[in-house]
Amino acid sequence: TQSQTEISRLKNINRICFGKHVVDTWYFSPYPEEFTRLDTLFICEFCLEPVGTEFQLARHRTKCQVRHPPGNEIYRKGTLSFFEIDGRKQRHYCRNLCLISKLFLDHKTLYYEVDPFLYYIMTRTDERGMHILGYFSKEKQSNEDYNVACILTMPQYQRMGYGKLLISFSYELSLVEKKTGSPEKPLSDLGLLSYRSYWADTIIDLLMNCKSEINIQEISEQTSITTEDILHTLHSMEMLKFYRGQYIFYLSEKCVQQYEKNRAKKRERIDPSKLDWVPPK
Ligand code: ACO
Ligand code: ZN
Repeated sequence: TQSQTEISRLKNINRICFGKHVVDTWYFSPYPEEFTRLDTLFICEFCLEPVGTEFQLARHRTKCQVRHPPGNEIYRKGTLSFFEIDGRKQRHYCRNLCLISKLFLDHKTLYYEVDPFLYYIMTRTDERGMHILGYFSKEKQSNEDYNVACILTMPQYQRMGYGKLLISFSYELSLVEKKTGSPEKPLSDLGLLSYRSYWADTIIDLLMNCKSEINIQEISEQTSITTEDILHTLHSMEMLKFYRGQYIFYLSEKCVQQYEKNRAKKRERIDPSKLDWVPPK
């Protein structure tokens, strides 16, 4: 009934204790009922198992030996790594991951259906282990050519450029597959902001460094961004001008400023030469 759905949608966990971070949650997540009467949920940061108390977590940690996500490490540069995980082979881990991400996502409904997805986990290594920064999931077969189903930066690491690193990685995979891709719709507000910003950065970057003529199709081939997403970005950044009977790209002052601002940030980038991956069959 309607009222039951409403009740079940109420936020049921206030905060999670994850590694050395305590984080306030944003939304409801369908954790087993035993965990939902607690104020704080404790989660093992390596295997993602939830427990009810700090004491139980300490006990869990003495038994739990893993210090990195399951699956294959398919990228490593410095302390940044990516793991590829098959939802069908690591159901338990992936369900736990979905439960965590639901705490910060309001519009996705798939929590238990993990088999049709691959999961790409981004980690940072230190002396204690490989800590999850964020992840995205990707359908093994997408009829709509989505290259990301769900994307999350762990809240303690948000607004540091990791969302764009995840997005960039998803397009690197599409480049290897020789396909274009786009994120699954609908996007959240934060998802939309991040994608718009990534698309604009990528296109401006390409045009600023472009030595010869280029058209939208070629931008798409070089970036794996769909022509629709490119056109949308060009319009919103006012980068298309009608000149002598045809459209030309136009790098406004705003674009050049954004380009300079990004360079000044000296942000970490994905290095395609460090990707060790063939598309799964
Ligand atoms: N306010 C304003 N702008 C923001 C904000 C914010 N809170 N967060 C991100 N942005 C914009 C900025 O333009 C930023 O670029 P800039 O720093 O170069 O200006 C850009 O988005 C990306 O920022 P990042 O730091 O790279 O992204 P972050 O690591 O914070 O991750 C993400 C973005 C993944 C969307 C994160 O906010 C998140 O996990 N949100 C909760 C889950 C979610 O909504 N996921 C997307 C759902 S849609 C889907 O899954 C297909
Ligand atoms: Zn554990």
